[in-house]
Amino acid sequence: MKVVVIQGPNLNMLGVREQNIYGPMKLDDIHAQMEEYAKQNGVEIEFFQSNLEGEIVDRLQECLGDADGIIINPAAYTHTSIAIRDAIAAIQIPTVEVHLSNIHQREEFRHTSLTAPVCAGQIVGFGPFGYHLAMMSIIQIIREITAMREAQAGQQAQVALQEN
Ligand code: DQA
Repeated sequence: MKVVVIQGPNLNMLGVREQNIYGPMKLDDIHAQMEEYAKQNGVEIEFFQSNLEGEIVDRLQECLGDADGIIINPAAYTHTSIAIRDAIAAIQIPTVEVHLSNIHQREEFRHTSLTAPVCAGQIVGFGPFGYHLAMMSIIQIIREITAMREAQAGQQAQVALQEN
């Protein structure tokens, strides 16, 4: 099972930027915790951060045929990027959206997420712990999809046997 974690603009500044909102933890430390949890669960994990919208679209497209699940914090692009939304919709890979802060409690322009409607779910307001919740969620979603596909394959094999 492989999970790709995509971090949007200014998240490389965590630990420095607006600590009253985002807290003191650095992005590398959040990723180290996720890596530890991934290891414990036998999950392969890859991290990507970019301040550029097109690079995030490219990275999402690269997940096709490679990743089983995606965790994304599109940061400010959450509220503006039709391109990132379309990329998530195009690749059809289960995706969980995360925000450190509770975007619904903040300025009005942050209340709308263009990306959330094409994601499996959205986790907001729990700080770095949100990434842990996202890991738990994506692993569960992937397991359910795998179990469903295996059951369908089993049924198809049985039908093929009956037909022969
Ligand atoms: C954020 C919320 C966004 O509104 C903001 O632009 C960010 C971070 C969060 O994790 O809380 O850069 O995605």
